[in-house]
Amino acid sequence: MQGKKVTAPRLAKMKGKTRIVMVTAYDYPTARLVDEAGVDAILVGDSLGMVVLGMDTTRTVTLEDMERHTAAVARARPRALLVADMPFGSYEPSTSKAVESAIRLARAGAEAVKLEGGEEYADRIRAIVHAGIPVMGHIGLTPQRSLRLGGYKLQGKTQSAAEQLLRDAKALEEAGVFAIVIEFTSPDTAKRITESVSVPTICIGSGPHCDGQVLVLHDLLGLTPEPPPFAKRYVDLSSIIKRAVQEYAREVREGLFPGPEHTPHKKNKQAPG
Ligand code: KIV
Repeated sequence: MQGKKVTAPRLAKMKGKTRIVMVTAYDYPTARLVDEAGVDAILVGDSLGMVVLGMDTTRTVTLEDMERHTAAVARARPRALLVADMPFGSYEPSTSKAVESAIRLARAGAEAVKLEGGEEYADRIRAIVHAGIPVMGHIGLTPQRSLRLGGYKLQGKTQSAAEQLLRDAKALEEAGVFAIVIEFTSPDTAKRITESVSVPTICIGSGPHCDGQVLVLHDLLGLTPEPPPFAKRYVDLSSIIKRAVQEYAREVREGLFPGPEHTPHKKNKQAPG
């Protein structure tokens, strides 16, 4: 993809001008593909745990997992902004732990980090930003807190819960985030937040009134068996992959593969004796 490198300040300036497109990627080949497709930001999300590593929740993803996959995505040298998720346990204990973890992700190639939580984590965000690493906030449904939230439910349903989300967004803005992910709230709540903060909002499952959208790549490609109801499947890659491998298996069993065109050795001249 041609064009200027997307930096955190450049992404922040897109608010009110162009809708922001973010998608997850966790490895080198898919990072190259989504970057060539022209997305603005690539998120090495901790959804990694569930869609790639087969875990039941994102809470078992470690900082080492995130470093390894961030480094793989960074090797694609994307034009898009590379944002890495701070995994569960890497920022909650203290501000110094948060800064140390963010530095490790930056050393692995992250150009920004994202962390889940509202005003209770404003001090962590401020400290990471002071250390020179841009931070993306994440409010609404925060999967790392699904135990406390009682599952993966729509957030901000009552008036007071919606007011709290607005206070969270304001606290994050004040702490210095350059963008905020809003996950699984009502479209009205997301709209109110979007209109109340100066930084872009990037939504997933929170309707169309945001400054951008993010999807998990494996949901978009049809690689997750049970995608969330708000994810759109743009292609059924599972069927395509299965058909290709079935075809390969059939050809091997019937002695059709490798055929002459995949047996280049036959054409080789005899090695000089
Ligand atoms: O981990 C992730 O993929 C995310 C997105 C759902 C925003 O945080």
